[in-house]
Amino acid sequence: MAVRNVIKIGNQTLRKKSKEVVSFDEELGTLLDDMKKTMIEKNGLGISAVQVGVLRRAIVIDLEDGEYLEIINPEIIKTKGSKVADEGCLSVPGFYCEVKRPKYVMIKAQDRNGETYTFEAEDMTARCICHEIDHLNGILFVDHTKQGQEYRSQVEKNFKAE
Ligand code: CO
Repeated sequence: MAVRNVIKIGNQTLRKKSKEVVSFDEELGTLLDDMKKTMIEKNGLGISAVQVGVLRRAIVIDLEDGEYLEIINPEIIKTKGSKVADEGCLSVPGFYCEVKRPKYVMIKAQDRNGETYTFEAEDMTARCICHEIDHLNGILFVDHTKQGQEYRSQVEKNFKAE
């Protein structure tokens, strides 16, 4: 397992839509192992493949009970309620803002062997799953609020100037 470089806001790869995973092979296993290691090393609660520069629909989530969930090709089946809470992102270091997310989410996804499963989550884990699925569609949490959009335009301006 290796810690990979996490790309940051301003990098246009983060704005691309990730492609479906079709090969459930050794390379996917290595990617997921590396994502998990990278997330733990950088104190994240979730990570998507695009954040390590791989445009595939793969996510790892820290379930905060010593377990990790690998989410491949996710689909949101159901959401309920909403909750506002502080959010951050490994690709947006040093910035946090409140974001409204569903309180409950049910997803359908595949594991690293291609087996389909459904998973239900609430509160922080539901938030985390929605945040990571956004990444697969080129969306960052800062896009959801005015404060975040202001921060984004600042950063993107500076990024281009470099
Ligand atoms: Co993120």
